[in-house]
Amino acid sequence: MNEIKEPLIQKRIRLEHRLVFPPMATRTSDDGIPRADTVEHYVKIAKNPLIGLMITEHSYITPQGKADPNQASFSSDEVVAAQSALTTAIHRANPSLCLFAQINHAGAFTSREVTGMPLVSASPVKLKEEPARALTIDEIQNLEREFMQAAIRVKQSGYNGVEIHSAHGYLLNQFYSPLVNHRTDEYGPQTLENRLRFLVETIRLVRGAVGAAYPISVRLGGADYMQGGSTTEDAAAAAEILSREDIDLIDLSGGMCRYTREDTKAPGYFSDMSAAVKQCTDLPVMVTGGIRTPEQADQLIKDGKADLVGVGRALWQNPDWGIN
Ligand SMILES: Cc1cc2nc3c(=O)[nH]c(=O)nc-3n(C[C@H](O)[C@H](O)[C@H](O)COP(=O)(O)O)c2cc1C
Repeated sequence: MNEIKEPLIQKRIRLEHRLVFPPMATRTSDDGIPRADTVEHYVKIAKNPLIGLMITEHSYITPQGKADPNQASFSSDEVVAAQSALTTAIHRANPSLCLFAQINHAGAFTSREVTGMPLVSASPVKLKEEPARALTIDEIQNLEREFMQAAIRVKQSGYNGVEIHSAHGYLLNQFYSPLVNHRTDEYGPQTLENRLRFLVETIRLVRGAVGAAYPISVRLGGADYMQGGSTTEDAAAAAEILSREDIDLIDLSGGMCRYTREDTKAPGYFSDMSAAVKQCTDLPVMVTGGIRTPEQADQLIKDGKADLVGVGRALWQNPDWGIN
């Protein structure tokens, strides 16, 4: 086990190791505020000395984008005290760990029962039980500001960086995916730039708000692995576009297929995409998906398919994963 023990040193991020605990929803917050058992969960995993980066679970930027009833939130200043207690506990458990938080808007991938309001998306679609309506341009731009406010709260809470969630069929991914985005305006599917416009504008606002020294990661649902959906070629071209923005990490996962693939469960099942993306960017690339052993993680780095490797379910099941 060598590769995941190597450091990763970039302009704004310094990771002791290349193993990442990726964002994994615990659904243990009350009114968006993490509980004592949330803290306990993260502390237990953070103690694993192999982990260089931990990204805490997707948290809603505004109640309209809430994905489930016990999801964590960065939608108001009221969460900052509890989130600060969480980051303090994690940093105390592992002082060299780099800690990011993930911010999200579920778009159509939720229910009215959870959000208390009608669902929104790129286009009129039905991804779960209820239909969603298309956002107006004014609404898109308001949501970009909500992402920005959430990112400010992430920074205020003591996280070392923020990750913008644009994967797994959630709102930013709904704009990226040709399966969901049927708009006719400049946020529509006519070009990749248009599909990424909401994300890119969000990145720029977040960068302006968090300052030049603060790390920003993008979780990109690069390919849908579905007929008519986004492809690994799209992911590579998207990485090229995103590389022009002032960001620090491309964290790859699935799009409308979410975080798994129908056709393969092989360890590193998104590594075909990450290998293609690595050809198109100098940014560090992270891949996650089905990795069960440290040897599999090492191999992905050795083969040049990723710079960082996420291990989710295996670390959750066994926080001592990889420690002899
Ligand atoms: C219970 C559960 C919750 C998850 N929550 C999130 C999340 O909040 N944000 C996210 O980007 N991915 C989430 N994922 C996806 C994981 O980050 C990861 O990509 C996925 O589990 C595949 O990696 P693994 O095979 O190592 O578990 C979740 C996955 C699971 C199983």
